Amino acid sequence: MSIFEQTESEVRSYCRAFPVVFDRSEGCFMYDEDGNKYLDFFAGAGALNYGHNNPYIIGKMTEYLQHGGILHALDMSTVAKRKFLTDFQERILKPRGLDYKVMFPAPTGTNAVESAFKLARKVKGRQTIFAFQGAFHGMSLGSLAATSHAYPRAASGTPLLGVTFMPFPYGFNKSFDTIGYIENVIEDDHSGSEVPAAIVVETVQAEGGIIPVDVEWQRRLRELCYKHGILLIVDDIQIGCGRTGEFFSFEKAGIVPDMVTLSKSIGGIGLPMALLLMRPELDIWGPAEHNGTFRGNQLAFVAADAALDVLENDHLLEHVKQTEKFLVKYVEEKILPLDPRIEYRGRGLIYGIDFTALDPSGALAGKISKKCFENGLIIERSGRNDTVLKILPPLVITEEELKQGLDIIASSAAEIMSKEIAK
Ligand SMILES: Cc1ncc(COP(=O)(O)O)c(C=O)c1O
Repeated sequence: MSIFEQTESEVRSYCRAFPVVFDRSEGCFMYDEDGNKYLDFFAGAGALNYGHNNPYIIGKMTEYLQHGGILHALDMSTVAKRKFLTDFQERILKPRGLDYKVMFPAPTGTNAVESAFKLARKVKGRQTIFAFQGAFHGMSLGSLAATSHAYPRAASGTPLLGVTFMPFPYGFNKSFDTIGYIENVIEDDHSGSEVPAAIVVETVQAEGGIIPVDVEWQRRLRELCYKHGILLIVDDIQIGCGRTGEFFSFEKAGIVPDMVTLSKSIGGIGLPMALLLMRPELDIWGPAEHNGTFRGNQLAFVAADAALDVLENDHLLEHVKQTEKFLVKYVEEKILPLDPRIEYRGRGLIYGIDFTALDPSGALAGKISKKCFENGLIIERSGRNDTVLKILPPLVITEEELKQGLDIIASSAAEIMSKEIAK
């Protein structure tokens, strides 16, 4: 029994799917302690958009450390924070015509979601938040209340209050007018639901099974929120920072959410960091009304700032759009022909290969991802019963590396399906 099995809690998860001991990483590759190399199509669940140990970012961090740059400063003003805030305004917000104030909650995604909900309730004086079936917003009690999966919800041991789930245009509800339904719930004073303070949405549900919503749906949701005085929160924690080919996932729809949550890749190189962006007039917090010790990860500010350089210098947004075309072509030509029941969905460099129609239990997708790992590819699953293989490589991936990973998916799926599926 390893030290992990002996002493680490049973709650551990990813180490079960990828049962080796990792040691080093570089770009799109991870290496275990025996020197075996794995192509990474998981990218720290979206925290590594700029790749592992990006040399440019490491260079900036090393300079900062050698200079004796301050590492912990609560939310005091620092040179590192000033540079990040300035560059984020000048290079991300202003060019997109976005006027947001920035709040640094504690450094993980769930902290950004908690602060968004708290602020929305405070601003509106209402308790309810609408979230969507299939949503994932985090594991602390407030955000877990807006996370739909029964399994982690059951572990809370206490009622999860203040969130009502609305249908998402997927599966049973695909052809249903979900926005019309929400409007009806809001307008009907016999719907049993109060008007919510906010509606929180992922424009591509990631953990939910890689389910994008189209731009028209996003626009209608925005309009509905304006009409009824409801705040729109876009959770861009997993699919922001360039993942969809735009910095923010909602840009293509041309909408402006009232609040945006960011975490994961905003930290540049996998360092914990989270942001809540809010329209300035919503910033009614009193000093220290939402506090925390680790709201100023200085090294993450340095890495986050350097990542903005990488985004620009490597023309990453353009690269994502180009690489997406290659990905889609490959999936259509080499993976879908394996079986007509396989589906795929996605945007930018987040795509799902959906095996639900072949095996809704998820066992088949599980065997395929296991086979991928044996063949040197790290790939996770998502969706109901984990039936969807989730392609989530670092954005800096080359076409050649992408092809290498897709080849592994295609051959592993073909091998497993030839054994498991009676056609
Ligand atoms: C959309 C979304 N929101 C929130 C979270 C929670 O982030 P964290 O795990 O850093 O708390 C995640 C994590 O996967 C996520 O994908």
